[in-house]
Amino acid sequence: MRIPIFTIAVFLFSGTFIHTVAQSNLPKLPNSNDDNFVVIAHRGASAYAPENTHSAFKMAIEMKAEMIELDLLLSKDGIPVIIHDELLKRTTGEKGNVSDYTLAELKEMETGAWFNEQFKGEPLPTLEEVLAYTKDVVAVNIEIKHDAVTDTAQDGIVDKALELVYQAKMQDQVIFSSFDYRVMEHLNELDPNIPKALLYEKRQSGSLSPKQLVEKYAVDAFNCSYKELTDEWISELTSNNIPFFIYTVNEPELMEKITEAGARGIFSDYPDVLKEVVENM
Ligand code: G3P
Ligand code: CA
Repeated sequence: MRIPIFTIAVFLFSGTFIHTVAQSNLPKLPNSNDDNFVVIAHRGASAYAPENTHSAFKMAIEMKAEMIELDLLLSKDGIPVIIHDELLKRTTGEKGNVSDYTLAELKEMETGAWFNEQFKGEPLPTLEEVLAYTKDVVAVNIEIKHDAVTDTAQDGIVDKALELVYQAKMQDQVIFSSFDYRVMEHLNELDPNIPKALLYEKRQSGSLSPKQLVEKYAVDAFNCSYKELTDEWISELTSNNIPFFIYTVNEPELMEKITEAGARGIFSDYPDVLKEVVENM
């Protein structure tokens, strides 16, 4: 991978000019290719298999993605389950919300047929199941979805997800993220050392810049959509040595542009394409 000129400049002058916000605590990558860039499979290899399923995660692992991203909600009986929408309709065809059903009831549903008949019968995964086969294999970005977040940290989704991460002994192999900034506060209360990234959300951010948000919420990385990323933000993030991760990038030209801009990683539905683009830069 070619190293962007900007990165070289940062390296050369880092002792003199760069003000680091705080030491970033990013997860270790068991299958890293050591280029300081992270290929992230968005909802698994979701261009090829139904999003947020075992098939999508396993395909991402086969494609040698360095991190898989998944979306987390809670079942009625409080079990962390992997699904993007609180409304079940789009990916299961069922009525109502995820939180209306117990894990046993959710397990009766299937999440593959909407994508392709070939995946009919694909079960809705739990976080515990996915951690069992990703440990020492691939890093995991656990995105906590807003619908399951409560005002207090204890016994909430963050608490429950952290407990599963501890059980799996994967504290150094995961990163938490959320558009709901209460999650950052809960993590700081429950375990300030666990890696965490803020997903930029305009309404909660007010006039704060990425650097100010990273400082306010004491997070390790700043994540946003490629549609939100401005030259001004890039400049602020890179000059302050703040890792930033950009979603969801599926076009090779855009992947190249964002990598050149200094992003530490990209979320893509096509981790194989992203990997190839980055390796050939
Ligand atoms: O974490 C990056 C990205 O997944 C956030 O958007 O809607 O795909 O969860 P969304
Ligand atoms: Ca997500």
